[in-house]
Amino acid sequence: MRLISSLAICAFAITVGPLSSQGRAQNLTTGYNTLTAQPCAQLSATAVQNVTNFVAGIAMACLQSIPVNVSGDVEVINGLTMLLRSQSTLPYLKNPPPGYLYPGVDVLGSLDSILADLEVETYASEYDVQMDLYNLVNSAYDFHFTWIPDVVAVFSWNRKGGLISVSSDGLSLPDVSRSVDFPALVASSSSSYQTSPITLINGVDVESWLNAFAAVNPYDHDPDANYDNIMFDVPRIAMSDSSNGGGAFLGGFVYQGNDTVMTFANGTVRRIPTYAETSCDLSRVTDGVSFFQKCKAASSPNQSVSNSTKVTTENSYTPVPTSDPS
Ligand SMILES: *[C@@H]1O[C@H](CO)[C@@H](O)[C@H](O)[C@H]1NC(C)=O
Ligand SMILES: *[C@@H]1O[C@H](CO)[C@@H](O)[C@H](O)[C@H]1NC(C)=O
Ligand SMILES: *[C@@H]1O[C@H](CO)[C@@H](O)[C@H](O)[C@H]1NC(C)=O
Ligand SMILES: *[C@@H]1O[C@H](CO)[C@@H](O)[C@H](O)[C@H]1NC(C)=O
Ligand SMILES: *[C@@H]1O[C@H](CO)[C@@H](O)[C@H](O)[C@H]1NC(C)=O
Ligand SMILES: *[C@@H]1O[C@H](CO)[C@@H](O)[C@H](O)[C@H]1NC(C)=O
Ligand SMILES: *[C@@H]1O[C@H](CO)[C@@H](O)[C@H](O)[C@H]1NC(C)=O
Repeated sequence: MRLISSLAICAFAITVGPLSSQGRAQNLTTGYNTLTAQPCAQLSATAVQNVTNFVAGIAMACLQSIPVNVSGDVEVINGLTMLLRSQSTLPYLKNPPPGYLYPGVDVLGSLDSILADLEVETYASEYDVQMDLYNLVNSAYDFHFTWIPDVVAVFSWNRKGGLISVSSDGLSLPDVSRSVDFPALVASSSSSYQTSPITLINGVDVESWLNAFAAVNPYDHDPDANYDNIMFDVPRIAMSDSSNGGGAFLGGFVYQGNDTVMTFANGTVRRIPTYAETSCDLSRVTDGVSFFQKCKAASSPNQSVSNSTKVTTENSYTPVPTSDPS
């Protein structure tokens, strides 16, 4: 992988968070690397013109078939380490002040441990390495400190239909419902379609599942803000931020299974499929290696960070040792 994505470094010290141990590939993804001999070829065979949605399980198996490029990853981690020494929040993240709402994270120490795992060949796929790096950066819970490794960004794991949080009378605690139910919710009670709130997601009570989802799909440094960010958001859509206004539940870079099972208070159960969406042209992809060659650059997002803070390291460099700021 190349360090082509940009990294925004923020000078003010919003402190931020956790999961140095969780900063590891989700075990939901294990097993896919043995699915078929060439899942990327299988995926490519389903690619027809203008189709950007793929079966999630096959897309995951394809990602899992990308061989680890140890030398490339070592180069990227050394580069990240060098770059992140100027990230002003690292000491706070390592030792959060009282009242900090997420667990602390030793970012540079975690990079070292990913490096150590790479060197003893712990990783089954390049995707797993990159996902660990992605989760590690996310564990800072700071939207001014983001980095999306290239293979992580090839597929977005999307669901059709968002979530809303609505109080039935404006006084009682809100329930979580599907956004498609909103018109029926606000319609007169004579409507023949009776909506019902969600009680369980994937068999887990809805609040616990959403809080866990918010923790691995973060945006902000506050768990409540991250919970809100899951939901369909009318004001944000009105601000033309339609890519975010639909809420984080619609999709992201963290794979959470082939589908999402919702149980409603009325007893109905619905299975919502996950679609793997990509802008990479998958034609003539034959295996994990050719997938990587074709899609890694195609996926590199032109992130909308301000030009003054944009750091791009496309060229090779020699890491310069500096003393640890902490
Ligand atoms: C998956 O991860 C969870 C949380 O880290 C852990 O408790 C569980 O044992 C893991 N399961 C497998 C099958 O590795
Ligand atoms: C694909 O999309 C382009 C641009 O929208 C359109 O011109 C073309 O007809 C589409 N092709 C097919 C096969 O749908
Ligand atoms: C996900 O989808 C793949 C491919 O369709 C399938 O082989 C696999 O069993 C599915 N995994 C789960 C957990 O349902
Ligand atoms: C692995 O990384 C090295 C160093 O960046 C690069 O020269 C090489 O082309 C990469 N190999 C593959 C198969 O992408
Ligand atoms: C139960 O509620 C869900 C969500 O509002 C709805 O889609 C479904 O049709 C309802 N089931 C029945 C039997 O009314
Ligand atoms: C990213 O930026 C480059 C250079 O400005 C441009 O050529 C390319 O089309 C952009 N890619 C996307 C996906 O917007
Ligand atoms: C970024 O800033 C540089 C230097 O001021 C300028 O040359 C370049 O055009 C700017 N790029 C964008 C995308 O605004």
